[in-house]
Amino acid sequence: MPIRILTGDRPTGPLHLGHYVGSLTERLRFQNEGAECFIIIADYQVMTDRTDVRDTEKNIYEVMFDYLAVGLDPFDSDKKTTIFVQSRVPQLADLFMFLSMVTPVAKVNRNPTVKEEAKAAHLGSKMSLGMLSYPVSQAADILLFQPDYIPVGEDQLPHIEMTREIARSFNALYKETFKLPEAVVSNVPKLLGLDGSQKMSKSRNNAIYLSDGSDAIAKKIKTAVTDSGSEVTYDPARKPAVSSLMQIYKLASGHDFEAIEREFEGKGYGLFKVRLIEALNHFLQPIRMRRQAFATDRGQVAQMLRRGTNKAALEGTKTLQRVREAVTFDYSSIF
Ligand code: TRP
Repeated sequence: MPIRILTGDRPTGPLHLGHYVGSLTERLRFQNEGAECFIIIADYQVMTDRTDVRDTEKNIYEVMFDYLAVGLDPFDSDKKTTIFVQSRVPQLADLFMFLSMVTPVAKVNRNPTVKEEAKAAHLGSKMSLGMLSYPVSQAADILLFQPDYIPVGEDQLPHIEMTREIARSFNALYKETFKLPEAVVSNVPKLLGLDGSQKMSKSRNNAIYLSDGSDAIAKKIKTAVTDSGSEVTYDPARKPAVSSLMQIYKLASGHDFEAIEREFEGKGYGLFKVRLIEALNHFLQPIRMRRQAFATDRGQVAQMLRRGTNKAALEGTKTLQRVREAVTFDYSSIF
């Protein structure tokens, strides 16, 4: 049996280099080693921290263009990658109902990631039941597909731990049904944004997008914050901003940190930024070209989404049947 992974993203906009370094490369590695990859575009989760969700359809395409441009490959049947839209796989909502019954409220109330996100979105007493319970919904995203591994960022670890606890409870209370999946966290340090102090993220307006053109790249790198001093040295503790830019340069050029330090010894930040702009454009150019090709063929992309979503639903039906049997709700004399 091939290894199976499941992971995904909220469709809130195009993906940036932080996504690339942190999660896309990990998915590509699994895909290219022959794993079955299930990738969920989690549109319900967009609704957890906002009410205006009118851009979601557009953003599903944006995320999909980025996936395809970096090489996630749902057309090659050898590569077994399935990309699907959460709200269009009703088996996920079915499974959520069952899982919610074995999840203590005290547990969801303690989830640190939910607390942080609710705070960041200033939800206060307006926090919805959907926000509170989305980790249980995410447990359904995962358990419906019985994956071995879940490649995620650190912030998702509480959700994976909760998923495992829910699976364990269900298995113990009813019948051994779910395999316990394991989180895989990339060991590459998180990219900082262009402000040089916070994690790269869309909401902080400090990101370099995979879809950025060369003008945007030049402007963003020229105005990127650096640290005091002038030496290009990799030292995340003392030179966080420069170290993060060096990580980007490493990604774009393929050079390791020592080679980069040697290249810019005694030359200062100015030349480093010039070379960084060149390297980034060189790195992004093929991604941009592929992205452009898919963006002009939305019909093909839509078809891939439909196919992936159908495949996910079919796969989900199998697990759901086992869940119904486990709780004795298969009602085979009626239906
Ligand atoms: N919550 C994840 C994020 O914001 C997205 C996501 C939804 C996900 N369902 C998932 C990730 C299931 C892993 C597994 O990044």
